[in-house]
Amino acid sequence: MTGQRGKFITFEGGDGTGKTTQIGLFAEYLAENCGITPVLTREPGGTAEAEKIRALLVQRGGGDWDPLTEVLLLSAARREHLVKKILPALEAGQWVISDRFVDSTTAFQGYGMGLPQQQLQTIYREIAGDFMPDLTFILDIDPAEGLKRSGRHLAETADAAEKTEDRYERMGLEFHARLRDGFLEIAKNNPQRCAVIDAALPLEHVQAEIRRAFAEKFSLHRKEALNG
Ligand code: TMP
Repeated sequence: MTGQRGKFITFEGGDGTGKTTQIGLFAEYLAENCGITPVLTREPGGTAEAEKIRALLVQRGGGDWDPLTEVLLLSAARREHLVKKILPALEAGQWVISDRFVDSTTAFQGYGMGLPQQQLQTIYREIAGDFMPDLTFILDIDPAEGLKRSGRHLAETADAAEKTEDRYERMGLEFHARLRDGFLEIAKNNPQRCAVIDAALPLEHVQAEIRRAFAEKFSLHRKEALNG
């Protein structure tokens, strides 16, 4: 891999889609089958500074933010994450997998909270220019099922901080229905980059779909590189 820039892959979707489990399984697959040990990271967060901002945003008592303030906080965290972790790793030839990235802002703060997409794009360009993921998996599930699953996950977790990381989960079903539509719209508008995966399937089927979509997208990338 030396000399070649790494790939940036993101996992997106509503709450309770099993993203984190699927990322772990996909990282194992990359290591065993492709000889790639990816850097695993997440948003909001991913660096010490960005994790401090995460706590303000995702915890129940973190604050009652105005939606634009919230985007600015998310973007500040994203800028830290990008310049201190994601870009240096990619430049060094490593692959990076992030549990959420900018599509979450488009979906949650745009489709969910109603901020204008134009404004979100302007802010994103300020912090990231035209940088975008090479591939994005959008894990799709009925929001009622997702919220049920994510509630169960939170109840079972041993980590006290994670237990109260439910500020967004508490925003209700209508909000999460808008989110789902938003993610599907993002996928429709970016068919080259995004693959929608049915997250209601059993865990191992979801993983099989992810691997299939990965193989398809990357053979496409290779063909485009050869032709152009
Ligand atoms: P997680 O539960 O997947 O770790 O994500 C934390 C929460 O942060 C999740 O409910 C979605 C929310 N979020 C946004 O609202 N906008 C964003 O841009 C990101 C990255 C996350």
